[in-house]
Amino acid sequence: MVRDQAERLRRALSRPRRPASPRTIAVASGKGGVGKSNLSLNLSVSLSELGFRVLLLDMDVGMGNIDILLGQSSPLTLADWFSTRLPLSDIVKSGPGQLSYIAGGTGVAQWRTLDMAGIDYFLAELQALASRYDYLIFDMGAGASEERLYFLKSVDDVFIVTTPEPTAVTDAYAMMKYMHAAGSEAPFSIIVNRTSCGQEGYGVFQRLKDAAARFLNKPIALLGIVPEDRVVARAVVSQMPFVLLDPKAKASQAVRQMAWRYAMGREGEPAPPGQIPRFFAMLRQFLLER
Ligand SMILES: Nc1ncnc2c1ncn2[C@@H]1O[C@H](COP(=O)(O)OP(=O)(O)O)[C@@H](O)[C@H]1O
Ligand SMILES: [Mg+2]
Repeated sequence: MVRDQAERLRRALSRPRRPASPRTIAVASGKGGVGKSNLSLNLSVSLSELGFRVLLLDMDVGMGNIDILLGQSSPLTLADWFSTRLPLSDIVKSGPGQLSYIAGGTGVAQWRTLDMAGIDYFLAELQALASRYDYLIFDMGAGASEERLYFLKSVDDVFIVTTPEPTAVTDAYAMMKYMHAAGSEAPFSIIVNRTSCGQEGYGVFQRLKDAAARFLNKPIALLGIVPEDRVVARAVVSQMPFVLLDPKAKASQAVRQMAWRYAMGREGEPAPPGQIPRFFAMLRQFLLER
């Protein structure tokens, strides 16, 4: 009896509290090259280190680079899936630790090239896969294409990445404006990347927050501030996530804290009923409405 209780307690403690259904997160930006892919990957690795089951999807089909950042060549990618329709589970690859990911691949394949049957098939397969994970993280391409905006409407959380550069901040705001106009109800969280100090990051967030409050009437949250850090370039060259290459580096600590805060902030929060069906229903609608 006592042993049973101890065993139950041990099991409960050794397992992180999982979201009731997979949480869908899109990592987006207005401007390109601000760090989306590096942050998506390192956030995914950090969440999986916390014990969550994470599937990272490189949605930048045709220009994918998650597998390159991991130093793994993926013989099969989303781009190949578009043309071959092999089971989606066949292109899920194991990354470091518990991480699973789907590479975007390179070439001419694009979301727009998928036909109706392909769309249905993709969604059915993704839905079948989704139940195996706590988080589905979508590394989006930059900018506000029609496809992207509609896709962003269907996820639970949108993380918007910007750097302190005025052009990146302006584009981040424009991105929020487009998403808002497209009817996105997902909370927007800001990640300010490549800052020289925390104060600079807060300043950027404050400006975005004020603009969103004034012109969009929408509150936005600060997810985290990631400093400019040479570990990122080193990690890209070593083809290894920076949180693993040097867990003590400033950028690594910032990203790991961000993952922790995000996951813990969600703890105990009941998942809205029918969350995942809603995600797939919306996704399907957008793909059919194009
Ligand atoms: N925190 C950082 N510190 C230093 N360099 C960074 C940082 N974040 C990103 N970079 C640099 O920016 C480049 C582009 O990042 P990437 O993740 O590919 O952006 P995106 O996916 O938005 O196009 C990286 O190769 C890296 O050299
Ligand atoms: Mg990218």
